[in-house]
Amino acid sequence: MTATIIDGKSIAERLRQQIAADVARFTAEGHGVPGLAVVLVGNDPASEVYVGSKARQTTAVGMQSFEHRLPAETSQDELLTLIARLNKDAAVDGILVQLPLPAQIDTDRIVAAVDPAKDVDGFHPENAGRLMRGLPSLLPCTPLGAMLLLRSVATNLQGMHAVVVGRSNIVGKPIAQLLLQADCTVTMTHSRSRDLPALCRQADILVAAVGRPQMVRGDWIKPGAIVIDVGINRLPAQGTTKGRLVGDVAFDEAVHVAGAITPVPGGVGPMTIACLLQNTLQAARERRGLAKPAA
Ligand code: GUN
Repeated sequence: MTATIIDGKSIAERLRQQIAADVARFTAEGHGVPGLAVVLVGNDPASEVYVGSKARQTTAVGMQSFEHRLPAETSQDELLTLIARLNKDAAVDGILVQLPLPAQIDTDRIVAAVDPAKDVDGFHPENAGRLMRGLPSLLPCTPLGAMLLLRSVATNLQGMHAVVVGRSNIVGKPIAQLLLQADCTVTMTHSRSRDLPALCRQADILVAAVGRPQMVRGDWIKPGAIVIDVGINRLPAQGTTKGRLVGDVAFDEAVHVAGAITPVPGGVGPMTIACLLQNTLQAARERRGLAKPAA
């Protein structure tokens, strides 16, 4: 048996085309150009790549991109001052502060300083709390993208057993809430869970979001399960070969057991920025009273 490969690259491409059409209509109707501000502190190489792609894709769908690159020694107060300015700036509909932040900055303070109406990451405690309560809110981009991929192979998730590996605030916790809202039975697992392979083998839907390369092996997967691999890990370089990107799932093994699986690269990764653009358009609509505000 070979699993259906869920093509995140082409699903993300279609989503971006839809967003571009929606942005064109929004602007033609006189509502202005939606704007996304991305803030990067320091020069973490992976973050620089992400921020560059975000800016390119933002302008490609017809939105305005505001990039703020600050030195690694930026103080917390300086960053808070910038966020206060972006909160007030009418041209800015969405604000994303790239994580991780340097050690001298309290990430929770920064996340809480972003106007919840502009919080296109869905990380603000108000938005996280609303998600927990099942209220409409801006949703974190990676879980949102992962859910779209899941729904591309299974429209009705009711009663399915979803096992989430990883309890991060960015992925594990919010995706568990989204799966719960879709009427799945949800099991949260993490690095301290006892007999993780046995827990994973119960999953109709297995979401791997731990950041450990190829940790989930083929024999952890129930035959026919849907596997959503959120991991993006670079294997160490060997001699002249650059380390290749792999997920949290041993794809070559899993592909023979799963019913459907997202590859790495080309699965969840491309969906994240597409969902960020969708959130920015949603924030722009809500800020102008064009969509039902999250209230
Ligand atoms: N760093 C890794 N993933 C993310 C994300 O989704 N948003 C932000 N702001 N930073 C990240």
